[in-house]
Amino acid sequence: MKLAPRVRKAVLTLHIVSAGAWIGIDVLVAVLVGVGLSGGSDAARGLALRALAEYVVSPMLVSALVCLGSGLLLGLATKWGLVRYWWVAVKLVMNVLLCVLIVVALRPGMPEVGAAGEAIEAAQVPATDVSFLVFPPTVSLTVLAAATLLSVYKPWGRVRQAAQGLTAVNAGA
Ligand code: HEM
Repeated sequence: MKLAPRVRKAVLTLHIVSAGAWIGIDVLVAVLVGVGLSGGSDAARGLALRALAEYVVSPMLVSALVCLGSGLLLGLATKWGLVRYWWVAVKLVMNVLLCVLIVVALRPGMPEVGAAGEAIEAAQVPATDVSFLVFPPTVSLTVLAAATLLSVYKPWGRVRQAAQGLTAVNAGA
């Protein structure tokens, strides 16, 4: 499959915009988690947790899936391939892993986070400890920063060359 140059540029633009949106949503998550866990009045903490529970996970998943879909298209339709170069293959694993984590680990916990927000607003002690919320933005922002670095520097060369090099070393030994 090959894309016309203008189409490839349009898909690349979509890819970069979706990656940027995803990172932006993660920064918003970090802010809401920061307010919800540590800062301010009960009203502010409760509102931050409720906003997090209600409005954030779906746009995050959509931007992650658009990034994945456009990345797959770019990989398949350009010289880069999906598992031809390490920087693309590693990004593919990162993107799929983060999507799975959003669906399997983050989304199911949101009703409890919303309930904790309501409890805090009512000056009650929440039934669930939501301090685990520190991890999602930390992990996701770290992985997405790494994926951005991989995209810009494109390190480590071709997958098969590395495999051939290993075979040559083994044959020599
Ligand atoms: C994990 C999240 C991802 C982020 C943050 C990300 C970010 C980026 C960025 C910023 C670029 C532009 C680099 C440049 O033009 O110099 C890029 C290009 C690219 N990305 Fe991603 N990407 C991600 C996931 C993926 C996935 C899953 C794939 C494919 C499986 C992929 C495949 C590509 C390819 C092939 C290009 C180069 C396109 C071209 O120049 O024709 N990316 N990515």
